[in-house]
Amino acid sequence: MKIATRLIHSGKDVRPATGPLSVPLYHASTYAQQSVDDFGPWDYARSGNPTRQALEEAIAELEGGVCGCAFGSGMAAISSTLLLFSSGDHLVVGEDVYGGAFRVMTQVFDRWGLSVSFVDATNPSAMEAEIRGNTKALYVETPSNPLLKISDLSSAARLAKRHGILSIVDNTFMTPCLQRPLELGCDIVVHSGTKFLNGHSDVVCGLAVAADLHVGKRLRFIQNSFGAVLGPNDSWLTLRGLRTLKVRMEESQRSALRIAQWLESQPRVRRVWYPGLASHPGHEVHQRQTDGPGAVLSFELESVELTKKLLEGVKLAAFAVSLGGVESILSYPSKMSHAAMPPEQRAKRGISDALVRLSVGLEDPDDLIGELDALINTAR
Ligand SMILES: Cc1ncc(COP(=O)(O)O)c(C=O)c1O
Repeated sequence: MKIATRLIHSGKDVRPATGPLSVPLYHASTYAQQSVDDFGPWDYARSGNPTRQALEEAIAELEGGVCGCAFGSGMAAISSTLLLFSSGDHLVVGEDVYGGAFRVMTQVFDRWGLSVSFVDATNPSAMEAEIRGNTKALYVETPSNPLLKISDLSSAARLAKRHGILSIVDNTFMTPCLQRPLELGCDIVVHSGTKFLNGHSDVVCGLAVAADLHVGKRLRFIQNSFGAVLGPNDSWLTLRGLRTLKVRMEESQRSALRIAQWLESQPRVRRVWYPGLASHPGHEVHQRQTDGPGAVLSFELESVELTKKLLEGVKLAAFAVSLGGVESILSYPSKMSHAAMPPEQRAKRGISDALVRLSVGLEDPDDLIGELDALINTAR
């Protein structure tokens, strides 16, 4: 079945005999057992909850994996995935990853002996050059946050397989509607479900999906042992958000392309990063491995003053942290998503103080362009 159909019908196996179209919300923390020798499928809600399971089955199916785990945030999904590794292990990580992923690797897992090399993940040879005897995984985001850099996922998967290590992909910006890394040979997909998957700016949630049962079982063991699970309410909301993912994604993406093209023609905009533009360095690789450019773009204005004027002046788009909601969101990476990255590291990656990230929502693009035009092009 096509993705639009699967989005509507996935994760419904746990519905009771009364046949509700919506998966019921189970708030129980524990379940009465009938037999000392043989517990039922549910015993304690950290280990499993039917509403959460419906979401986990849905995301596993949509990503083409065998095991999905839902966590209390995207960072909980990423951190729990990193718990697959041990002290003395090493990871090769795309240098342009979300600031929170950078922070947990360099300030938390680092203390437990997991070392990381940050590399230009647009270049498979640069990734290979960093692989050592103790390297256990490649970790990339594509498109990356905030500069929308593109990594070739088939090459990364092949590289990982050749070295007997795992490949992990943060698929937050694309969602399985537009990109399915496991189908391209990668081993694990992680998500901030807070973003497009839920899509309504009312849940913080994370997901991880494994392509193979062995890795999946290890992830499930960590999910239960570490315990950063997603609650039933948020599982239900995310499952509801998933049902409309394709129409939201397609509509926002259409508007994002128009806005990116408009921004590219503006003299006070220095540069636009959007994989849907032919000028984007990763345009061709992105087109080959996805079903669309998505709804997030970044752009750099001619000055920090103009950037502040835009961020503080917007009314239709919210000036806020996060992305992927029905409402457009303008973020300021240097003070928001990438504040955890030291300024010199940001500068090295090209994340300047005049850089703005726009997540395009479902407003009419004419209205969004009108607002951007008024703020960017009128004198103070
Ligand atoms: C690409 C990406 N991955 C992971 C995260 C972390 O997710 P959460 O905020 O749900 O913990 C974010 C948050 O912005 C993100 O943008």
